[in-house]
Amino acid sequence: MTDPAKFFDAYPRFLESSETGPWLDRLNARYFALIHQNRHLLEGARVLDLACHDGRFSFAALQNGARHVVGIDFKAHLVDAATGHLGAYGVTPDRYTFLAGDMFDYLEQERDFDVVLCFGILYHINEHMRLFDQIAASSPRAILVDTRVSTLDGAVIELLSPLGKSPPEPGNAVEGHPTRAAFDAMFSSFGWQVQYFDWLASGLCGDARMYDYRTGERVSAVIECPEYAVPAEARHAAVQEVLDKEAERENLFMLVANVARRHDISPQALRTWVNQAQRRRTREAGFKG
Ligand SMILES: C[S@@+](CC[C@H](N)C(=O)[O-])C[C@H]1O[C@@H](n2cnc3c(N)ncnc32)[C@H](O)[C@@H]1O
Repeated sequence: MTDPAKFFDAYPRFLESSETGPWLDRLNARYFALIHQNRHLLEGARVLDLACHDGRFSFAALQNGARHVVGIDFKAHLVDAATGHLGAYGVTPDRYTFLAGDMFDYLEQERDFDVVLCFGILYHINEHMRLFDQIAASSPRAILVDTRVSTLDGAVIELLSPLGKSPPEPGNAVEGHPTRAAFDAMFSSFGWQVQYFDWLASGLCGDARMYDYRTGERVSAVIECPEYAVPAEARHAAVQEVLDKEAERENLFMLVANVARRHDISPQALRTWVNQAQRRRTREAGFKG
């Protein structure tokens, strides 16, 4: 059995391929907090690893009982490395699928996962609510998050250039860094419950390379998504009620809030299912001018 405090010592291939935070102690500490602590959630799960990089956490999830992992990353050479590493470490190919591509495109299709890993990606995008909406549509029971956060006050998304400058130089690309309060607002809108990992109490962030966790500039959390347990018939009934009444020109925001309250589900989750139903309808019927 691998020592959970030194997981990556036994799997050095990931250190060679990593293009981000490639230090053994940091990877081991992250493994402990993000995977080992959550192994009860991973047991038997179908896992989606967003921005999987070289497959390090996909592999770690499989070693902790996940049934199957889909890993997706923009970079084809990293996805190839992921496939090579898992093969070299004896994981049978029926337990993983690595895809090179955009996670938003992948999630556009209807998907079904038990656990979604969102590690090191939520500060590289600008469409957080779109991503959470897509994740919610795949009905996970939990989302594991590890992300930088803005240290500004309030529930805001700070725009930074990819080089970390805020405000970005005019004409530069921008990435959105939500504050912790902004993440809390987004998660709770879906009815999700967040539990942050206590990095300071863990004793795992003493090393100089763990400064971002120590200072609270980076956080890790388990998000439980109780909506996954809402039975399909109850979802369908709530969605149908919104779609029927929408045709009567009721205000959609109020309508969703009222129907959600009556069915005891979160408004954002209902909004996600309504969006999903509307997308399905458009796919079948095409856009109408
Ligand atoms: C900082 S790394 C995170 C790697 C790993 N998940 C971790 O936490 O150690 C960010 C990764 O996100 C990938 N990426 C960024 N935007 C993406 C997108 N829209 N779809 C898929 N991958 C994306 C990059 O190619 C890169 O490998």
